[in-house]
Amino acid sequence: MTKAQTEQKIAALRETIREHDYRYFVLAAPAISDREYDRLMQQLRDLESEFPELVTPESPTQRVGGEPTKAFPPAVHHVPMLSLSNTYNAEEVEDFARRVRDMLGHDPNDGFTCELKFDGVAMSLLYQHGKLVRGATRGDGTTGDNVTANVRTIRAIPLTLREAKFSRESFEVRGEVFMELAGFQKLNAQREEDGEPPFANPRNSTAGTLKTLDAREVAKRPLRFCAYQLRFDDAAIEHAPEIDRHSKRLELLEAFGFPISKDTRVVSDIPGIMQFAMHWQEHHEELPFQIDGAVIKVNSLREQEGVGFISKSPRWAIAYKFESQQAKTRLNAITLQVGRMGTVTPVAELEPVGLTGITIRRATLHNADEIERKDIRIGDMVLVERGGEVIPKVVGIDPSERPKNAKPYSFPTDCPECNTPLVRPPGEVNWYCENPECPAQVTGRIVHFASRTAMDIAGLGSQSVEQLVAGNLLHNVADIYDLKDRRLELIALERMGDKKVDNLLEGIEQSKSRPTARFLFAIGIRHVGVSVAKLLIDEFGSVDALSEASEEAIDDVPGIGPEIASSVFAFFQKPQSKQLLERLRAAGLPFVGEKKAKPIQSEFFSGKTFVLTGTLTALTRDEAKEKIESRGGKVSGSVSKKTHYVLAGVEAGSKLQKAEELGVRVLSEEEFLKEIP
Ligand code: IVH
Repeated sequence: MTKAQTEQKIAALRETIREHDYRYFVLAAPAISDREYDRLMQQLRDLESEFPELVTPESPTQRVGGEPTKAFPPAVHHVPMLSLSNTYNAEEVEDFARRVRDMLGHDPNDGFTCELKFDGVAMSLLYQHGKLVRGATRGDGTTGDNVTANVRTIRAIPLTLREAKFSRESFEVRGEVFMELAGFQKLNAQREEDGEPPFANPRNSTAGTLKTLDAREVAKRPLRFCAYQLRFDDAAIEHAPEIDRHSKRLELLEAFGFPISKDTRVVSDIPGIMQFAMHWQEHHEELPFQIDGAVIKVNSLREQEGVGFISKSPRWAIAYKFESQQAKTRLNAITLQVGRMGTVTPVAELEPVGLTGITIRRATLHNADEIERKDIRIGDMVLVERGGEVIPKVVGIDPSERPKNAKPYSFPTDCPECNTPLVRPPGEVNWYCENPECPAQVTGRIVHFASRTAMDIAGLGSQSVEQLVAGNLLHNVADIYDLKDRRLELIALERMGDKKVDNLLEGIEQSKSRPTARFLFAIGIRHVGVSVAKLLIDEFGSVDALSEASEEAIDDVPGIGPEIASSVFAFFQKPQSKQLLERLRAAGLPFVGEKKAKPIQSEFFSGKTFVLTGTLTALTRDEAKEKIESRGGKVSGSVSKKTHYVLAGVEAGSKLQKAEELGVRVLSEEEFLKEIP
């Protein structure tokens, strides 16, 4: 190849690679595989190393520069980077729209743009003569960090522009650098493998990455970009009629080659704004990245200028924030909670903080491993989250707010309740207190026995149990059934009294008629939950037969694994268990299982797997489940290729969609009912 030919080849390769970046990051429609892409890059790299004089800073091979830097130089913003004022409800949005109307003297002529509020890091990009010349973080709004080398590694950000109008002018693009959830999770998995502490969330991860001084490291991180603002340095162009609306500027940004959000909408009034906001409040978890709200902007640039600013925020835009599921607060102390099985759980004692309408003072820290993995220290600012579960959890820390003297946490060596040395069996993440007489365990076992899902004894909640254990009236669950002979002692207790004692004793009496499987669950054998208990009683017919069964026989029960079998077998071998069971038998607890109903013969149901979705009208979900199971079918929680039928009620959601994608037969409730005469 002559040099001229090589030059042409290099230009063509660069163009092709740029086109594939654009297809991947902007159009979200990749045309080639990662491998093919890598091959093109390698070809380009090879040619460039043969002719180093042909390398230009805009070549895709030059996204990663040379040596790490020592620090980021300051970057002064041409126009300050403002922040948005937050709103949380319809009234506050109405206030915003009213203020805009008052300032303009009329409603906005070109409506409002509604955008997603990306939960990442704001970025300012300067372009001159069609080339990226600077990337800067927001900093204090006036001066940020010059992070150009890091920004250049982000493939979603064009180094040169696709040909389009105005592209030779000098302008600034603002947008958000963020990580998609999938990329974030992969990154965290890798960090754990490498023994590095994981990031608490995609935003922390993005912020941490942009602060990295070695651009080669940054290049390995899955950073994305979405552009949401365009401003020209030349006032004449800034006022050009072709780009006098924000929505038109977004289109221009797309033509330049920037990723913009496909979810942006232009609406004309407050109901339109609220519809957009409510939609995303409801559906934001379906997005592949995190957002924390919506951003509403007056669409007309001239009207934006007319409305102006107040101190640090524009008056022409607001954020509509979703209520946060996460809050940040100080970790004051770590205490230990001892469970009924002796499991020791570390609990975060927090500076009280409000989150989704409740005040959070404590949150679980899971176990010693998790504390070490996240390097959580007393005094840290921690992030707490409330997921679907009731107990809030600490998901991470903000390392930038760590007090200077914070020391790594060392797990206590003794049980806080009974001072027995704690043990951690090899391969387990938990520490245990192995003293069965530990008061915390004694109380825990009794509370579990009496709880709703177990024996459901009214009047025997955790507070009463604690009181009765402290008053020496209860040591184990069999003692519950002797309480009827200790009426006077009960009445003498604080907050007890005649009526309460009567109710308690009545509740205890009634608990004797619970199903045998519930009783087996209530005893509290490790790994025996409600459904395992039911399987075991269905199979063996009675607690006695189960107590005499060999470990192999238990292991043979469908649905029971070796871990459960070994735990059940071990429990019945212990002399204390035998003693306890004899006392419970004498008290009249149910040892024999109910006769198993004979399965109804049904070809339609037998051996088939069903998934239920949506709301049923004629049956409850539990009833439908019972109908399926009593006919030899199975009910599963998620749709897969192995699913035979999806029973879809009203407002069926993603499972129905999944069924349709996989070609799984969907039954209406009506069709289903026809099969159960
Ligand atoms: S516009 C003057 N649009 O939210 C307003 N900001 O406090 C300039 N953000 O730090 C921002 N998504 O990083 C705008 N679609 C969006 C946004 C967005 C996320 C962030 C931005 C800024 C913060 C506002």
